[in-house]
Amino acid sequence: MTDSITISIDGVEIPAETHHTILEAADKAGIYIPRLCAYPGLKPNGSCRVCTVLVNGRPQTACTTPVMKGMVIQNETPELKRLRSNLIEMLFVEGNHYCMFCEKSGNCELQGMAYRLGIKTPHFPYLEPKREIDATHPDVLIDHNRCIFCGRCIQASKTFDGKNVFQYIGRTRNKKVGVNADDGLGETDFAATDRAAQVCPVGAILKKRVGFKIPIGKRIYDRSPIGSEIEVQPKDAGSAQ
Ligand code: FES
Repeated sequence: MTDSITISIDGVEIPAETHHTILEAADKAGIYIPRLCAYPGLKPNGSCRVCTVLVNGRPQTACTTPVMKGMVIQNETPELKRLRSNLIEMLFVEGNHYCMFCEKSGNCELQGMAYRLGIKTPHFPYLEPKREIDATHPDVLIDHNRCIFCGRCIQASKTFDGKNVFQYIGRTRNKKVGVNADDGLGETDFAATDRAAQVCPVGAILKKRVGFKIPIGKRIYDRSPIGSEIEVQPKDAGSAQ
């Protein structure tokens, strides 16, 4: 059983159901909380921390925190913007992200978030890790240089596709998303039609032979900033009466 309650985000009172997370309640009210790992229909794992908000003054991840009556949440503060910017910048320097050469440019959530946060260049040194590309599958490739370890593909393969294609292997700087076969993705039962092929927020999992089919300049975040699909609802549409 769920109950309707009211919470406040940045001073706006919104209704919520007790089975909702803060992120879900905010989405329904047309308030965008930045996120990179959360994905509709997948269990949130709280890995990217980009959705961090202040709940009654304490930092919490909005994708994993259930709403509670009377919660006072801050989503837009200079400190949270700095935290999110630092997280995004760290993701850029930890991998090899060359946006101008990447097929995902314009559709990439990491790039879109950087634009939204006004990031021009990271303040941290580039680590330039050496990572491989798995092109063994006839229809899909994995470029580990762009993986941000959000875990969406791992979960989507299990939850949406009923398979178990991906898993984390290794630790710390050697951590990567591996596949359940010794000789690469091509040896698994993965298919280009799998939902796990659609959920990657960056250009780490890409379909072959369709690159640049949609021209740069006409892609999702070329048209409007990331999050604006949620903000289309007027804020007061979700306000409690
Ligand atoms: S979206 Fe909440 S931790 Fe990634």
